[in-house]
Amino acid sequence: MTEAHCTYLDHAASTPVRPEARAALERWLDAANASAVHLPGQAARAAVEEARERVATALGATPSEVVFTSGATEADNLVIKGALWAARERGRQHLVVSDVEHPAVLEAARWLADRGEATLSVVPPAPDGRVEVDRVLDAVRADTALVSVMAANNELGAVNDVAILAGELAERGVPLHTDAVQALPTRAVDVAGWGVAALALSAHKLGGPQGVGVAVLRRDLPVVPLTHGGGQDRGVRSGTFAVGLDVACAAALEATVRDRAALDARLGALSDRLAAGAVAIEGVHRNGPAAAADRLSSHVHLSLDAADPAALSLELDRARVAASTGSACASGAGQGSHVAAACGLTGTPLRLSLGWTSTEADVDRAVEVLADVVPRVRLDLALS
Ligand SMILES: Cc1ncc(COP(=O)(O)O)c(C=O)c1O
Repeated sequence: MTEAHCTYLDHAASTPVRPEARAALERWLDAANASAVHLPGQAARAAVEEARERVATALGATPSEVVFTSGATEADNLVIKGALWAARERGRQHLVVSDVEHPAVLEAARWLADRGEATLSVVPPAPDGRVEVDRVLDAVRADTALVSVMAANNELGAVNDVAILAGELAERGVPLHTDAVQALPTRAVDVAGWGVAALALSAHKLGGPQGVGVAVLRRDLPVVPLTHGGGQDRGVRSGTFAVGLDVACAAALEATVRDRAALDARLGALSDRLAAGAVAIEGVHRNGPAAAADRLSSHVHLSLDAADPAALSLELDRARVAASTGSACASGAGQGSHVAAACGLTGTPLRLSLGWTSTEADVDRAVEVLADVVPRVRLDLALS
């Protein structure tokens, strides 16, 4: 993003900071300690509590349910580990997660299972990346402590029926956690309306700074804290309040909600244009749900037949197109993405993701570059 002349199509990884968030961060960068009783401390505390209220309003939650964290990774870990540890005390130690969850959920759950602290059911997705409600319900048991299914997938942009799932689980007395990080920029999120017990968000996917996020924890979901110390945030998350980050997070979220409908419509048109240009290139396929209603307008996920992931990455960099190739840990085509593997996708995955600064010029340039690069990174060419 800070690179000059870069066509930035990696908004799902991090999106530029919105002016409202930048101003809020600068305003509160020199804040006093919000737990101090003196006047500057009280002012800082008031700013944090106001930010908490604004976050709650934007998410359909109540302020006492909002816990500021260092990001969604911490929020997901807090929910998965904290809720599981609390439920163990009531004899429940079974977790259900989908196989396309972000590692912040999946690895936290696996870590608990590896240590013998939880039993774990991992629900496979449909080939389009969506997680089917019935499959999740089939995995639920009498000792299920928590289910975690993301609102939308970070790679494919596949959108899940979180409200329906939460309702079904509520009838079975099982709480649902949803990672709403990717859904938030373009989809309405409503904690109370959905009936979820917990939710995670990350500010830097919304136009806020990196290093701050939120865990929404419904008051009837007991959670054992991960950190112990000064007892901030109702004892669930000790640590000095990050005043500037928290206020900037609230500002980014508010701006996101304000602009969401217009952004969704704009990105829908841009991603259609991008996808149409990309699939016109030989050996390029679009993945994810077929219906626009079932996928995020911000995400275009492609598979490239017989493409060398390392060469693709290098060529895109050379052409100054920033995208997510999933090739950093790939040793061969289609490897390196647990989501692509879980969905049975073949070929080299390439995620192009749009955001609030994206333009038609970005999209057209990306298609132009792909049309040039894709034929040159074919594995069969490299071998011949
Ligand atoms: C779905 C999802 N969950 C969690 C995270 C982690 O967020 P953070 O960078 O705030 O820790 C990300 C970001 O990569 C994400 O896309």
